[in-house]
Amino acid sequence: MSLKSKLAIDGGAKAKTTPNIPMYPGGLEIGEEEKSAVMQVLDDKYLFRYYGPSGVESKVKLFEEEFSEKIGVKHSLATNSCTSALICSLVALGIGPGDEVIVPGYTFFASCATIVAARAVPVIAEVDDSLTIDPVDIEKKITPRTKAIIVVHMRGVPCDMAKILTLASKYNLKVIEDVAQSAGGSFKGTRLGSFGEMGAFSFQYHKIITAGEGGMVTTNDNLLYDRAMSYHDTAACWRPGGPEKRFSKARYSGELFPGVNYRMNEITGAILRVQLNRLDGLISKMRYNKSRIKKAIENIPGLEFRRLNDAAGDTGLVLIFFLSDPEITGRFADALKAEGIAASSMHNKSVPDWHIYSYWEMILNKWTATQEGCPYTCDYYLKEGGKVNYSPDMNPNTLQYLHRSVHIDIPPQMTEDDCDMISEGILKVANAYL
Ligand SMILES: Cc1ncc(COP(=O)(O)O)c(C=O)c1O
Repeated sequence: MSLKSKLAIDGGAKAKTTPNIPMYPGGLEIGEEEKSAVMQVLDDKYLFRYYGPSGVESKVKLFEEEFSEKIGVKHSLATNSCTSALICSLVALGIGPGDEVIVPGYTFFASCATIVAARAVPVIAEVDDSLTIDPVDIEKKITPRTKAIIVVHMRGVPCDMAKILTLASKYNLKVIEDVAQSAGGSFKGTRLGSFGEMGAFSFQYHKIITAGEGGMVTTNDNLLYDRAMSYHDTAACWRPGGPEKRFSKARYSGELFPGVNYRMNEITGAILRVQLNRLDGLISKMRYNKSRIKKAIENIPGLEFRRLNDAAGDTGLVLIFFLSDPEITGRFADALKAEGIAASSMHNKSVPDWHIYSYWEMILNKWTATQEGCPYTCDYYLKEGGKVNYSPDMNPNTLQYLHRSVHIDIPPQMTEDDCDMISEGILKVANAYL
């Protein structure tokens, strides 16, 4: 056996000899344009979303307008995170005590935690072989108390929005899209974040475009926009329209109510305007890199790619494939790591993975901030017959798919050589193990 074909884990030469690029797609592109956008804000001394020296336009407002244009929605409301964007969405929809919201068991914990923050009860559904929420299981988990579904376009790819919207209209449910990990992706040619009543985006540092932190609510509905705006800005104290509108009466019942402060600041907005211009370029590089690797490994027997609900709408963020069982998956990922490839598997994790429901201790144990245990013990919930039970093994399909999956991030900054070395490493390990 040559040193090249001997696995690195067994002492052979590594397939990938270049350093791994960290997965901060937009973050690593931050450069002169972002710097000068920030300097502009400081030079203008206009640092607050809703006012400052006259003659200067709010960068957050401009970002919201440009974002609406990019995603194809009527309204965008900038927030300080996706977590707050999700809470605004739930509140805007009037979801609260007594209501259940269905959420997938594979998503960052925040998607589920926001439901409790809005004082509603999460019901956790399976994901299917696309690793996005399983429409068949959504239907099984609907109860008379279900008001909404938070669908998560997980790890760069779209959910099956056609099936989800059909179910939503059949059962009269609201749809909130969590687009934190898939900004710029699409389903059948339409951008994610424009299908549901509400969309929520993240610009945290790990996301496709970033300012370190940040979020966005999207909606086509005027009323929902007003209510999200009201909540994110302490009852819309500073809502646009000039001083005469501030603290004025509500224009209709349900417009104004006490809220919080989830506003985006101007420096964040300025950076994100530059990053938004980078979005399509980042996606096309990730798509190119991913398809180059996929093409090289597509014929490996025993290796099955994650199913895509719409391949054309995939942002290309990550390559995921399934192997036959958890044991081989763990060994395969370890061997890839030894080859110099930043692969990961869900197997044998010593630290909790906050993306998998079975680690969501605070939900599984129904821990709440106050002792009376609302929303689970809330009268509104109990009188409707509400009784939710959680256990770590309640969604076996989700765990089964995740335990058989190998994940390889696809940084847009990778060269063709990097991609080819990754493919070579996968082929080498597959040749030895599958
Ligand atoms: C799917 C998903 N939803 C929500 C969030 C929360 O985003 P943020 O950190 O902007 O609050 C994240 C962040 O990792 C996420 O991945």
